[in-house]
Amino acid sequence: MSDQPPILIHGAGGHAKVAYSVAIANEREVIGFLDPNTDLQSLFGLPIYRSDPFRPDAENFVAIGSNNIRMSIAEKLPGPIATLIHPSAIISPEVSIGTGTLVCAGAIIQISTRIGSHSIINTQASVDHDCQIGSFVHVAPGATICGGVYVGDLALIGAGATVIPNIEIHSGATLAAGALAIEEVPRNETWIGVPAKYKP
Ligand SMILES: CC(C)(COP(=O)(O)OP(=O)(O)OC[C@H]1O[C@@H](n2cnc3c(N)ncnc32)[C@H](O)[C@@H]1OP(=O)(O)O)[C@@H](O)C(=O)NCCC(=O)NCCS
Repeated sequence: MSDQPPILIHGAGGHAKVAYSVAIANEREVIGFLDPNTDLQSLFGLPIYRSDPFRPDAENFVAIGSNNIRMSIAEKLPGPIATLIHPSAIISPEVSIGTGTLVCAGAIIQISTRIGSHSIINTQASVDHDCQIGSFVHVAPGATICGGVYVGDLALIGAGATVIPNIEIHSGATLAAGALAIEEVPRNETWIGVPAKYKP
């Protein structure tokens, strides 16, 4: 086990399982899961708490896939926050990663890119050089973000989607799974397809 603080994972769904896998890959102790909205009593042999077990020695990690729900929980966190990066992720020099962010197995973050807080860079996603990725963003598995791209807070870049260099995906936008963004995606809009077009 590492000498870093133990972790309480907020959430007990699929994304919490992924966060758990990244935590244990880092030899972090997980004390359990906090989720008032499940009937399960335990997960991976660890307790699922209905209310905060109040362990002041523990760091919190919010593992909820929905960007908006993750934000609403993160804003009320009682204590210190963990940041989790899978050991197989490749993080280049001059990269900054905000607190509470999850970087999953096989992800690559290239040089001079900045990632905000409580974002998800999911399995085998690639974020190239000089990107600016906001907070509460989800870059889904296998997505490819080319260099110099801006992604605003709360945006979702769907599984396997591609964003060409130097364009902007604005706050709250959704780029569909498999889509190819070749132009700016406005705030809160959903764009679909190859090349991606606005989905009313
Ligand atoms: C784009 C998306 C948000 C649309 O969701 P939705 O509003 O619930 O849309 P629906 O499933 O009702 O589908 C609406 C239409 O869009 C089409 N569509 C949905 N997703 C699509 C996609 N990724 N690419 C192309 N077309 C898509 C549907 O076939 C349907 O077409 P129709 O109107 O001709 O029947 C969703 O499909 C998506 O791609 N989400 C990203 C998922 C993801 O990668 N999550 C990360 C998991 S780790």
